[in-house]
Amino acid sequence: MAQFTLEELPVLPLAETFALTAAYNADSFPDKVNLGQGVYRDEACRPWVLPSVRAAEEVLHNQNANHEYLPITGDKQFNDKARELMFSPKLAKNPNIRTVQTVAGTGANNLAALFCAHHIKPKNVFISDPTWDNHYLIWKTAGPEITQKLYPYYNASARSFDFDGMIAALEAGEENDVVVLHPCAHNPTGFDPSQEQWKKIAEVIGRKRLFVVFDSAYQGFASGDPDADAWAIRYFYSTFFGALSDSQTNPPTGMLVCQSFSKNFGLYGERIGALHLISPQSVAAEGAYTHLIRLIRAVISCPSLFGARVVNTILSDADLTAQWGEDVKTMALRIQGVRASLRAELEKINIKGDWSHIEQQIGMFSYTGLSKAQVERLKDVHHIYMLGNGRMSLSGLNESNVGYVARAIKDVVDHE
Ligand SMILES: Cc1ncc(COP(=O)(O)O)c(C=O)c1O
Repeated sequence: MAQFTLEELPVLPLAETFALTAAYNADSFPDKVNLGQGVYRDEACRPWVLPSVRAAEEVLHNQNANHEYLPITGDKQFNDKARELMFSPKLAKNPNIRTVQTVAGTGANNLAALFCAHHIKPKNVFISDPTWDNHYLIWKTAGPEITQKLYPYYNASARSFDFDGMIAALEAGEENDVVVLHPCAHNPTGFDPSQEQWKKIAEVIGRKRLFVVFDSAYQGFASGDPDADAWAIRYFYSTFFGALSDSQTNPPTGMLVCQSFSKNFGLYGERIGALHLISPQSVAAEGAYTHLIRLIRAVISCPSLFGARVVNTILSDADLTAQWGEDVKTMALRIQGVRASLRAELEKINIKGDWSHIEQQIGMFSYTGLSKAQVERLKDVHHIYMLGNGRMSLSGLNESNVGYVARAIKDVVDHE
């Protein structure tokens, strides 16, 4: 039998956003611009520690807390607060939602995929096309036997959400197939379904008896209001699982909600998140919950402390919670302002085509419509870094570089 050697494994490229950041850091051009990584930057394009987070750090510093292990499911108070933020304090009391702490949004997605692969055993997982690229990798790694079906999400010629394409794809779903949904500020397109469209999406998912995985990474970033941005999740919950009457005729077979605190609390490197398991019955499926716990034990044993302590400190204190609300608004409004400035700059220099989509899109990103070749030229000639699919992370723009970026975009558009 031929022997396996390590040398047989091919060299793989680094994930694109990380490779892009490394290339940006290595670039010595003084006016370089980083529009790659999905991180918030202040008006001076510097990392921003939210004032509410700074205040919580002060509180924690004076607490002299210890560094013991957390329970496998994480910090109970953090889990309660995370659930309230996602579902509202009222719905969060319902016993059919169980919460565990995770390693940020990625850990929540990974745990959700592992849970589905081991215990739901779907034939297919429906993932939006395009999406956060890690969705493909996470599902391929957790469930290599599950077929990934991409549902159309973006209509490139109309530069809009492809509602009809999405519905048609979901109609082909089979019972217990998984569907991964972005509840708000869709990454990378910045287009979200309207409430009427969500209702239709929910109707199809319930009728086809699919299993829902929501991936919430931008709660607060879309509108500046965390409650408004949780609308789709709360609608699904209330429609299918919230009546607690056990009498739903067409509920999905269950629901998992991944919650990240990376963007809306600016806690990127602290890796703090949560996963909520929702049972169709009025009480929690205790067995399913224990299976989730078993997976956590195998993968991380138990989650980490600091991010949970920060979030907990903020959400347990009315003044800090109010400050955090202001902080989220500050981030969302700055990005909305940057959208308007970029569009205005582009129109001022009479760029070809219609660029109104930059202002219509929502959240951290603009799906610019620039081609791979144009993105390459932006990098090679102008030292402006963004993803190959044309996704621009808007917080890398400010008053002093938006004119430069607009002129560079005009150059690459004219160059075609
Ligand atoms: C849609 C989506 N889900 C999940 C994540 C993961 O976020 P994190 O693991 O940093 O919390 C991201 C990050 O970019 C994202 O865009």
